[in-house]
Amino acid sequence: MANHTMVNRKGIVLAGGTGSRLAPATNAISKQLMPVYDKPMIYYPLSTLMLADITDILIITKPEEQALFERLLGDGRQWGLELSYATQSAPRGIAEALVIGAAFLAGDPVALILGDNIFYGQGLGPTLRQASQQAAPAALFASPVKDPRRYGVVEIGPDAEVVSLEEKPSNPRSNLAVTGLYMFDGQAPTLAASLKPSARGELEITDLNLVYLRAGGVNVHVFERGYAWLDMGTFESLLDASLFVSTIERRQGFKVSCPEEIAWRRGFIDGDQFAALAADAGDNDYGNYLTQLSGDARR
Ligand code: DAU
Repeated sequence: MANHTMVNRKGIVLAGGTGSRLAPATNAISKQLMPVYDKPMIYYPLSTLMLADITDILIITKPEEQALFERLLGDGRQWGLELSYATQSAPRGIAEALVIGAAFLAGDPVALILGDNIFYGQGLGPTLRQASQQAAPAALFASPVKDPRRYGVVEIGPDAEVVSLEEKPSNPRSNLAVTGLYMFDGQAPTLAASLKPSARGELEITDLNLVYLRAGGVNVHVFERGYAWLDMGTFESLLDASLFVSTIERRQGFKVSCPEEIAWRRGFIDGDQFAALAADAGDNDYGNYLTQLSGDARR
């Protein structure tokens, strides 16, 4: 089994929203179920939580889409996970995920990830596990971007301390976007519930981060240029993500964010369970990849 951490951190994947910017592609299907090259979008954030050794995970979807996610992922046992489901009836803000997840979290610390975020890079797993095991009140992950105005933006000082934190500023004070992965202590649901909705009627994640910042409890991990962080809110970014994944996978022969592989490598499932998943996956590119990995390991 994987190392058990001192901190029992649970995970939440937020996969609701309107997807209206991707209409008509999202008129009949959730954005987070759309393919990103060879797998459904939600595999990527789920893989990120798994790399952090987080296995007890709540998936929040729109009410009418919950059954589709359950059909895809089930109770997670096949990957050594414990998945549960909850719904968000309208996109009332990213921070509302913590309010919706309050009973599931039951006072435990959490890693919240947006269902449309991809993280990729050498050493990602160890970095995430280290952050997850720290009992800091809040940990944010920042990544350089060309146009920070579209994101939460963090400015950091010489000792990586947070100097400022702003949501979609018109004059960004740095090029560091706050990515859609947030780690919080057990206070998060209570603090999120006490936020006032913003002018656009949402419980803003940046407002929650500012509450933690004022209490002096925010760590920022910067993913330098050797990492890729992608989000998928537009057709262009969706295509970019598919092309990125396809380029890496076809060149290297390794899959990006393959939950079956991570479950096996992290010890959530054993070799027999992995071989059974490979057999179930069928005679296709994905299944053949699993079969080859499983066979190599047994040789
Ligand atoms: O991706 C990182 C960025 O995500 C951060 O840098 C920003 O600080 C943060 O506000 C957020 O910005 P976006 O403009 O990308 O947020 P958006 O409203 O597009 O929501 C991101 C995802 O979360 C999207 O796939 C839909 C989902 N979502 C969003 C809201 C507001 C929900 O499921 N429920 C919601 O209520």
